[in-house]
Amino acid sequence: MKPVERLTDIETPVGYVDLERVRRNAARAAEYCGAHGLGWRPHIKTHKSRTVAALQLEHGASGLTVATLREAEVMADLTDDLLLAYPPVGRAKLDRLLSLPGHLDLKVGLDSVDVLSDLAGAAEAAGRTVGVLVEMDAGMGRVGLTTPEAVVGLAQATQEMAGVRFRGLMFYPGHVRMPAGEQSGALADVAARLDGVLSALAAEGLRPEIVSGGSTPTLWRSHEIAGVTEVRPGSCIYYDREGLDLGVASEGDLAYTVLATVVSTSVPGQAVVDAGSKALAKEDRGGGGFGILLDRPEVVVRSLSEEHGVLDLASTDWKPAVGERVRIVPNHVCVSVNLQDSLLVKDGDVHGMMPLEARGRGPWNP
Ligand SMILES: Cc1ncc(COP(=O)(O)O)c(C=O)c1O
Repeated sequence: MKPVERLTDIETPVGYVDLERVRRNAARAAEYCGAHGLGWRPHIKTHKSRTVAALQLEHGASGLTVATLREAEVMADLTDDLLLAYPPVGRAKLDRLLSLPGHLDLKVGLDSVDVLSDLAGAAEAAGRTVGVLVEMDAGMGRVGLTTPEAVVGLAQATQEMAGVRFRGLMFYPGHVRMPAGEQSGALADVAARLDGVLSALAAEGLRPEIVSGGSTPTLWRSHEIAGVTEVRPGSCIYYDREGLDLGVASEGDLAYTVLATVVSTSVPGQAVVDAGSKALAKEDRGGGGFGILLDRPEVVVRSLSEEHGVLDLASTDWKPAVGERVRIVPNHVCVSVNLQDSLLVKDGDVHGMMPLEARGRGPWNP
């Protein structure tokens, strides 16, 4: 980490991470998973950082999850156990996948025989065997097979091909985004879908060694889905406004904010900061606006231009001055992190700059 002498010299907007909170969040996820006999395979798309991934592994992560080949390349020497939770379509991605270091227990999530057969052919030609997690749709309606019969068919096809090995199932309950206390019905539906798939597999003598599920909104209720062996939460390493709104995190858990500076107070009832959609991301997560202030949660980022964020002062007695600094909690942390060049990091009293090695899509050339 490159040290930062004087915080006031730091130019804003910049993503700002509190490493002590990150450690606490990691320890809590690990403790929860340990208590329920679940593996913790964090999705690193949230932080895209080797430092944070290493910290998660130190705290007991059993392996890592990635979505892009760049993320895979960056994380490959930190763990022996990597899951690409995204179908690798096309020669370029397959070449990169199969060039990952041979020590890796490499697994891929996929939902079609097209991806499976291309992967199998490329892996066999490269002299490797890649693990396959057949992806099922748990109700989100994005990717994943929608019937138990289709899951069984793809699992059987995997068993018949060289270059690949059936290791289990994967699903993402990304549609379960209601407050934690109101998730019972949705979680019961996910559990019923999984049960149907597990029964259909068992009837054909197929026993998934891995059943990979989980998300941040459902994190603390993951154990209610019978049959899940590991979870892949991402945003819970930093949390965001959505996590706060859903009751999965409290203010003291928020480990990522965007440090911004007030640049104008000319229009009554509002203040404008230098964090716009190119720092916060214009993502609507149902809470109204695009973020809140960490220290004054009553102040909402009402609207965004690319480099302007408009703070609504209607519910506060705070009178901001031009030049004043604020910390903004974005609606969705992952997309905000992805907009930063590097992050300002605080570890106790020490500040430094942390690179985001896994950002971008091109090959990683350290
Ligand atoms: C396949 C998959 N797994 C895990 C995650 C992690 O989700 P969250 O950030 O809600 O924990 C995501 C997020 O988009 C995902 O797409």
